[in-house]
Amino acid sequence: EKGGWSSFMAKEISEEPDAVANTMRARHHDGQVVIPELEALGDDVLAGIDRITIIACGTAAYAGQVGSYAIEQWARVPVQVELSHEFRYRDPVITPKTLVISISQSGETMDTLMAVKFAREAGATVISVCNTQGATIPRESDAVIYTHAGPEVAVASTKAFVAQITALYLFGLHLARVRGTLSVPEQARQLDELAAIPAKLSKVLESHDSIAQLAKWMADTRAVLFLGRHVGFPIAMEGALKLKELAYIHAEGFAAGELKHGPIALIEPGQPVFVVVPSPRGSDEMHKKVVSNIQEIRARGARVIAIAEQGDAAVLPFADEVIPIPLAAPLFEPLLAVIPLQIFAMELSSAKGLDVDQPRNLAKSVTVE
Ligand code: F6R
Repeated sequence: EKGGWSSFMAKEISEEPDAVANTMRARHHDGQVVIPELEALGDDVLAGIDRITIIACGTAAYAGQVGSYAIEQWARVPVQVELSHEFRYRDPVITPKTLVISISQSGETMDTLMAVKFAREAGATVISVCNTQGATIPRESDAVIYTHAGPEVAVASTKAFVAQITALYLFGLHLARVRGTLSVPEQARQLDELAAIPAKLSKVLESHDSIAQLAKWMADTRAVLFLGRHVGFPIAMEGALKLKELAYIHAEGFAAGELKHGPIALIEPGQPVFVVVPSPRGSDEMHKKVVSNIQEIRARGARVIAIAEQGDAAVLPFADEVIPIPLAAPLFEPLLAVIPLQIFAMELSSAKGLDVDQPRNLAKSVTVE
């Protein structure tokens, strides 16, 4: 039940700290990740893979894209992300050394189920990340990593998204341990970063009211753009998807580096643009580039809403609004930066008087191809 919340979506957003904490539980000890569900598969299988393909649809695919950066960085295996329906119909190269990771909240998405069956028939090992015990996709897979986000009722996926990223990060650390690609202290350091996320998520949730205010002011906006770079890129795409599905507003996410390759032509005075700003403490160069993107669009009249690390003074002179997120290592920022975008879409939807939990034309699980 909704409890005291105005919608299931509001309730589920409030549960995101628990979704991350519960997904981590019992999957690590002494600073190392050990995912018991992968034991049956055998470490030699994971040690022998030469490529990972992540397949999923919608929000789950954006979680996959975030996860791909961490898995590739930590475990030094090439990782590619593909939409299930594209993968399935294009004759991809699959060998016994291919690991396919499917991601699905419901575990019933037909596009992803068909892609899983196809991958296994072609000889790949398939691990599924799923939020629903005993669903069809896990039954068709070689191993399952369950996300423990709890049942997600609202059509728009929120807490499952952060739980999926958590599961993929745990998998990345598990794989790095098996393959010996990260030192033991480094594994422990990354794990500590992940363990610190739930408390930081609770902090981000405190900006709910100011984001709701912003959404009210923007209730008659016709189009919104989202920019991000590196792990912020899939977050920009996810922010746009949420706004489309919940508020029926034309929204598009871009890689910030693409701006001058076309999308900057869309910028006209008053155009709202959300920018996911990477921490200056990660790659200083990347941070500078995104700040200069902000200057470029501001000079053309864009209304800039920056999601930036608390205390990032460089964005202040150029942003119309700044939504601060707590300090986190660069790979972990997406877990925090997505929350304001989820809240914004939800609040804009309710400011327009729409049904937040049941947007038009959509179903919670898409069981047809
Ligand atoms: C967006 C959303 C959809 C789902 C997609 C995959 O908010 O809910 O994009 O993420 O349909 O669903 P699952 O994860 O159940 O396979």
